[in-house]
Amino acid sequence: MSQILEIRDLKAAAKRRVPKMFFDYADSGAWTEGTYRANEEDFLKIKLRQRVLVDMTNRSLESTMIGQKVSMPVALSPTGLTGMQHADGEMLAAKAAEEFGVPFTLSTMSICSIEDVASATTKPFWFQLYVMRDRDFVRNLIDRAKAAKCSALVLTLDLQILGQRHKDLRNGLSAPPKFTPKHIWQMATRPLWCMQMLQTKRRSFGNIVGHTKNVSDLSSLSVWTAEQFDPRLSWDDVAWIKELWGGPLILKGVLDVEDAKMAARTGADAIIVSNHGGRQLDGAPSSISMLPKIVDAVGDMIEVHIDGGIRSGQDVLKAIALGAKGTYIGRPFLYGLGAGGKAGVTLALDIIRKELDITMALCGKRDIRDINRDVIAE
Ligand code: GLV
Repeated sequence: MSQILEIRDLKAAAKRRVPKMFFDYADSGAWTEGTYRANEEDFLKIKLRQRVLVDMTNRSLESTMIGQKVSMPVALSPTGLTGMQHADGEMLAAKAAEEFGVPFTLSTMSICSIEDVASATTKPFWFQLYVMRDRDFVRNLIDRAKAAKCSALVLTLDLQILGQRHKDLRNGLSAPPKFTPKHIWQMATRPLWCMQMLQTKRRSFGNIVGHTKNVSDLSSLSVWTAEQFDPRLSWDDVAWIKELWGGPLILKGVLDVEDAKMAARTGADAIIVSNHGGRQLDGAPSSISMLPKIVDAVGDMIEVHIDGGIRSGQDVLKAIALGAKGTYIGRPFLYGLGAGGKAGVTLALDIIRKELDITMALCGKRDIRDINRDVIAE
């Protein structure tokens, strides 16, 4: 992986290593993928102020997210089917994040279970919750996250129904994969992935299998979200979950100023400005374009985080400058995982750290905690 210098290189390497249906799952956005593209493109439009002849020694990227120390304000986003990018993917990514000193968030739709990830790590990770119609199952998931000593619950607000991603439908995506000639071909052309996958038992939804009844077709994401996810999720449910969980709570998927105000009133610890990586409402604005408006409206009441479109340390710096206290990467770490397992995730984090550090220095700043709108060129 010596020629891998930026996240784009990891993406190209992952494409060569991961069967098409799973690479595409990570890479897809809803419908036209316009919002997915806007998430990335709008970061590029923001320009930074170049400052000179300032002391650049002793720089620090250390910060906190919801009061928890982080070596840089970049957490790993909850991503579905991570264990299909690489065998035991969630366990490997969680270990890489732990060693790096940044939070790892395990998705409800993960392949490795909460207990698997707890067994692979020594420090607390975060757990992302989808709310199912079966409230006993939700209670049980929250209890399992507590038993695993998860140090934050990330409640996703923007996926009561699944946005349509054309690539997944065309690929016939499922976990575990089906054995049609097309799927066999996609896997057979990725022999290393197959060999590693044959050495693990974890090939289906680890948090669900064996813990719930009445899921007729677990393998198809669209069928089981339609059957199981609660389309009536409301602000009252947020209060119920906050009570049930009793620990640090992060609300993910806020993109509108009015919703941000409602979210701030819940007493949660943070919100994540997010459009689900452009995977839900295609046509919604990019996350970074909404960040300053949301920070202006609620930034003094609640910590504001952001995900969507972050592909470099420069993007992290821009988000922090516009008022985010924390950022999240989804696809960048998945590309690293697909390209090289745990070492690939560490490389993704390393690339971002270096870019963030050099960018901060060239903007004339030494401490990430001092970054504000001042570094943005008008
Ligand atoms: C799940 O969170 C997805 O976006 O596929």
